[in-house]
Amino acid sequence: MPRKKILSVVGTRPNFMKIGPIQAELAAQPDEFEPVLVHTGQHYDAAMSDIFFEELGIAAPDHMLDVGSGTHTQQTARVMERLEPVVEAEEPDVVLVAGDVNSTLAAALVAVQLGVAVGHVEAGLRSFDRSMPEEINRTLTDQVSQMLFTHSPEAQDNLLAENCSADAIHYVGNTMIDTLVALRSRIDAQESVAARGLEPNGFVLVTLHRPALVDGPMLADVITQLGRLASQFPVVFPAHPRTRKGIERLGVATPPALEIVEPLGYLEFLNLLSGAAAVLTDSGGIQEEASFLGVPCLTLRDNTERPVTVSMGTNVLLGLRPDRIPDVPALIEEVRARPVQVPPLWDGSASARIVDVLKVF
Ligand code: UD1
Repeated sequence: MPRKKILSVVGTRPNFMKIGPIQAELAAQPDEFEPVLVHTGQHYDAAMSDIFFEELGIAAPDHMLDVGSGTHTQQTARVMERLEPVVEAEEPDVVLVAGDVNSTLAAALVAVQLGVAVGHVEAGLRSFDRSMPEEINRTLTDQVSQMLFTHSPEAQDNLLAENCSADAIHYVGNTMIDTLVALRSRIDAQESVAARGLEPNGFVLVTLHRPALVDGPMLADVITQLGRLASQFPVVFPAHPRTRKGIERLGVATPPALEIVEPLGYLEFLNLLSGAAAVLTDSGGIQEEASFLGVPCLTLRDNTERPVTVSMGTNVLLGLRPDRIPDVPALIEEVRARPVQVPPLWDGSASARIVDVLKVF
């Protein structure tokens, strides 16, 4: 039997945690699979990319497309133009994409136009908010995928409602949690909390990077409110480059109590997350990681494509409302008192289930 060639595409920080464990499973079965990794270069800073390859033990990409930053159209178009010859030359059996970033949709379109089967990891998530580029990316990617790998029951309902074939849907679990489970002992061995002079469960971790919050004037309100929160509760805020640029553009002074730091690596960030009293975020992946770890997650968005983190996990939607930041201390108590569960199949073995499906595809 010839080996199956699986070409996986990554581009941004969250992609690495989702595809890394699948690459490891494929590499562990060299008689069955020939994995090929393409990095689009949508994220390119060492702190946004290289450190994750090192810490997650992902082999260097076989192809680097260096698309860099740009508008959604520019980024998507550049990935398509540069990926097409790679897929033509590699002739993979399957192109695997993850999540909902511009690189995800671009790669899926290239594959389907070349007649190559697409597998979408984290299929079926919906916020039902089409003003977010991610909602467009994930919905269209699902429409052109032959394998839809889901991580929660509502994802299947969403896909069926959009006329996706039931045979294409594989409920496999969460590969981002695979990474967390695989690296748990190394995460726990970090001493990031003490190294920053913090007490376990005595600080709030903050991450914000969505355009709705950080590209406009609302960011000034957020910084003011975070400054107030920080004067009663230590706050650690690793800022995404987009957020840092937003702060510089607005010219807002950082309140003295608020510690804004550079983006962190995976191990340090997860160590801080697991020791935090709560995380205040607009990220999708962090809603899942916090729920898995049982850490209250307060989400500064009007909606989430990950409702299972609200129904079973620790997530609370605050709305796109900086004025709710003063409620954080009370909400921490509320969430800590409520029963939470880890969603089914968020168990560290989702990648193995995906690879089982790829074997028989
Ligand atoms: C992208 C994804 C978003 C995801 C996020 C994870 C899309 C539409 N958005 O948003 O869904 O949650 O990644 O982080 O795909 N920049 C740097 N260095 C880098 C990368 C970016 O300085 O390595 C700066 C650039 O100024 C760039 C800006 O950040 O213009 C935004 O980067 P971009 O990749 O366009 O979008 P993200 O906000 O990172």
